[in-house]
Amino acid sequence: MEKLDMLYRGKAKELYSTDDPDVLWVKYMDQATAGDGAKKAQIQGKGILNNRITTVLFRLLEAEGVKTHFIRRISDTEQLNEKISMFPLEIIMRNTAAGSFAKRYGIEEGTALKRPILEFCYKSDELHDPFINIDGIVALGLATEEQMAEVSRQARDINDKLTSIFDRIGVKLVDFKIEEGVNPQGQIVLADEITPDTCRLWDANAKTGTVGHLDKDLFRRDLGDIIPAYEEIYDRLAALADRE
Ligand code: C5P
Repeated sequence: MEKLDMLYRGKAKELYSTDDPDVLWVKYMDQATAGDGAKKAQIQGKGILNNRITTVLFRLLEAEGVKTHFIRRISDTEQLNEKISMFPLEIIMRNTAAGSFAKRYGIEEGTALKRPILEFCYKSDELHDPFINIDGIVALGLATEEQMAEVSRQARDINDKLTSIFDRIGVKLVDFKIEEGVNPQGQIVLADEITPDTCRLWDANAKTGTVGHLDKDLFRRDLGDIIPAYEEIYDRLAALADRE
């Protein structure tokens, strides 16, 4: 497999074409951003850890029947993914009130929710990823009603499976963001990444009175170094993958 032109440079990853039109070459960078790119830093080692973490999680989900774009990890910071047609959507699942949800409704972070909440945002840097509902998505032609029914089903299924995976390693899955798209066979599949950059992960054994952030909120909120937290997540996930 040969790496060809750079197609896209995002906030945390670079995407390259390859000599196979159906395969993307993805490089995880050390860059961290927050607040829509307002805060930016190079954090040595983040790319390696996120490449590893998303690899373990996609493999564990695949083993439980979730279809993904993941092909294989090819180096410390690189992996091959199936090239798919992405929905321009951030698909967010919440199990506990936190972040923008807690702020929007004036609820204390950590408040339990009576049921998981599925939200969508329209991916647009210019518009700062505004909130959108399924009517808006269908009306704008971003996806069809049938596709959104399947995306919603998959998001809830992935939430159940991920919650259970994190539970098994002593971590509370507070919320997360995924992205999905349509593969060359016409199937809707999980894409992008699942890492502590895209999930809120709280240590179930944190000291009383502390949340025990093991995710990018450490960077967003200047609470400490993310690398030990990301290493902790990777080590626990790797041990789980070895056991199962
Ligand atoms: O900020 P907010 O509370 O809406 O984030 C919900 C979840 O989605 C968090 O886990 C956050 O890490 C993730 N997220 C993301 N990328 C964004 C926005 C949110 O990964 N652009």
